[in-house]
Amino acid sequence: MSVRFLPVWVPPPYPLWPFVAAQSLLTAAIAWMLRWPRWWVVIQLLFPPLLVGALAWQVPGWIVVVLVILLVLVFWNAGGERVPLYISNASTQRALGQLTRSLAPVRFVDLGCGWGDVVAAMARQTHVEESVGVETAPLSYLIARWRARAAGGIVLGKSLWDMDLSRFNVVYAFLSPQPMAQLQDKALAEMAPNSLFVSNSFPFPDVEPSEIWQVNDRRQTLLYVYRFDENRQLVPPEDVSDEPAY
Ligand SMILES: C[S@@+](CC[C@H](N)C(=O)[O-])C[C@H]1O[C@@H](n2cnc3c(N)ncnc32)[C@H](O)[C@@H]1O
Repeated sequence: MSVRFLPVWVPPPYPLWPFVAAQSLLTAAIAWMLRWPRWWVVIQLLFPPLLVGALAWQVPGWIVVVLVILLVLVFWNAGGERVPLYISNASTQRALGQLTRSLAPVRFVDLGCGWGDVVAAMARQTHVEESVGVETAPLSYLIARWRARAAGGIVLGKSLWDMDLSRFNVVYAFLSPQPMAQLQDKALAEMAPNSLFVSNSFPFPDVEPSEIWQVNDRRQTLLYVYRFDENRQLVPPEDVSDEPAY
């Protein structure tokens, strides 16, 4: 892209690394203007210098192939489901523990559990009876299974769409805007009486959350909390608290 557009402003020849930087910035700027997800913008920034660095330092081809395979095995759901991997931070995990205490004994599930951080953190809480995660990215599943098992949690290698939500009284998801409409329908159809659905950062599109918790972390994480009453009806919204939840 820089090869095509840079000569319009600056005549060639170009030194290698400034040229690579121009390529990175140009593609990242285009991704940003197209409102692509932030992680795509970061990938656009990093990919050209990594590629040129690998060629310049003559990194063996098999290392590049292994790295690409590992990335695919972790970012398995970035293409089809449009859900990449990012991890709930420790403040969010603590907020979840606090948020769910009144529902003890808690049967918890993390829909798309990544590397199992939340499943393990919840499994360690005394008010949690069962902590389960589901994950379909092969490498993330293996890592999550190993980490959750050490903490007393369970991770299943199955799709969140095949999970029966009525078994749990706390359901957690940190996905992306893409699956939220379908997930909303699934939650409304399956959530158990007196249960809680917590979505990190991405609300359901058509129903108001019962509460919104703001986590006191750097990214000011919002937890959209949907409470279901004894008749499986959504509890209507309360005032949104200005105070950080944790
Ligand atoms: C943003 S990460 C969140 C990880 C974890 N829940 C956390 O909060 O730390 C979303 C995860 O959901 C997984 N995922 C996406 N679609 C899925 C599906 N249909 N079934 C199971 N896992 C899925 C992705 O592979 C990714 O690891």
